Amino acid sequence: MDDEGDLVLTAAQHDADVAAERSRVTVRTLHTHEELAGARRLWDAVWPSPTGTEVTSNHLRAIEHSGGYVGGAYDGDDLVGACLAFVGRSMGSHGYHVHLHSHMAAVLPRAADRGIGTAIKLHQRAWALWHEIDRIVWTFDPLVRRNARLNLAKLGGVGVEYLVDFYGRMDDALNKGEPSDRLLLQWDLAAQRVADALAGTTVPLSRDGWVAVGAEDALVADVHGPHVLEATSPVRLVALPPDIVAIRHEDAALARAWRLAVREVLEPLMSNGGRVVALTTDGHYVVEVGS
Ligand SMILES: CC(C)(COP(=O)(O)OP(=O)(O)OC[C@H]1O[C@@H](n2cnc3c(N)ncnc32)[C@H](O)[C@@H]1OP(=O)(O)O)[C@@H](O)C(=O)NCCC(=O)NCCS
Repeated sequence: MDDEGDLVLTAAQHDADVAAERSRVTVRTLHTHEELAGARRLWDAVWPSPTGTEVTSNHLRAIEHSGGYVGGAYDGDDLVGACLAFVGRSMGSHGYHVHLHSHMAAVLPRAADRGIGTAIKLHQRAWALWHEIDRIVWTFDPLVRRNARLNLAKLGGVGVEYLVDFYGRMDDALNKGEPSDRLLLQWDLAAQRVADALAGTTVPLSRDGWVAVGAEDALVADVHGPHVLEATSPVRLVALPPDIVAIRHEDAALARAWRLAVREVLEPLMSNGGRVVALTTDGHYVVEVGS
C-alpha cells in the first residue's frame, strides 16, 4: 500500500472508531459458531418470516472463511446489529473491478436511530480498505427513507442502478406482498464525496433549495398519493413517502401506488445512465440525468 493508501486507511479506521464510540457499541468481525448463530437470530428478529433467515450458519461460515465479511455491533454483551458481505466483481471501463457486496445489514428496532447502522458500515469500510477493496455495493428498497438517508446523506453513496423486482417474491414481514424493487448503491470508499459526507461538510439542501438551482420535480405527493410529472431538467427530484413501512400496514393500495410511481420515474432515468446523488433534507431523491 502506498502513502496515500495508508492515509486513507488510517482515516477510515479513525472514522469507524469515532462512530462506534458515539453510538456506544463495539463493532467487530464474527467467526465462531455461536457468534454466527447470534447474527442469524438478529436477522430473524429484524426480518421475521415463516422459514427464518435464508442464510444458514454454514453459508456464513463459508463466506467469512473465504474472504467475506460478517460483522456485529455489541452493546455490552448484547448483539444489536449485524452485517454480511461477500466479495464480488463488476465489469468497468478497465476490466473487472473487485468489490464487497453487502447483502444484509440490520440493527434491532430497539437500538435504531442511535448511529449503530453507520458504525457498522464504517467498520465494514475500514475492513474492506484493509483487505485492499475500495468499493462496497448493496441494494436497498428505494421507498425506505431511513435507508436512503443513511446510504446517500450520511455515508455519501450513489444510487447507480434501478432493479425491478430484484429478489422476486419475499415473504418476510418487511417485504411481504410488495414487488422487491431495489436501488443499487455504490460506495467508493476512498472517494472525496464519501470523506465529505462523513466529515459532515456536504451542505444538504431542501427540495426548494434544489429547485432554486434548476432542479425540477419528476414526482410529487399530495394527500391522494404520488403523482408523476413531465420534467426536462438535467437534475430531477423524486419525492419519497415519509414512512413506507407504516403505509404498508395501513394502506396496501397506497404503498403499491408509491412503488409503481417511483419505479416509473427512476427505472428509465437510471437505465439511461442517471445517478441518484443526494437526498434532500425533506426526503426527495436528487437524480442527475445521464448524458
Ligand atoms: C437500515 C438500518 C440498518 C439503519 O440502522 P440505524 O442504526 O437505525 O442507522 P443510523 O442510526 O446510523 O442512521 C439512520 C438515520 O436515518 C434517520 N431516519 C430515521 N427514520 C427516518 C425517516 N423516516 N426519514 C429520514 N431519515 C430517517 C435517523 O434519524 C438517522 O439519521 P441521523 O443520525 O442523522 O439522525 C436499520 O434501520 C435496519 O435494520 N432496518 C431494517 C433492515 C434494513 O432495511 N436493512 C438495510 C437493507 S439490507
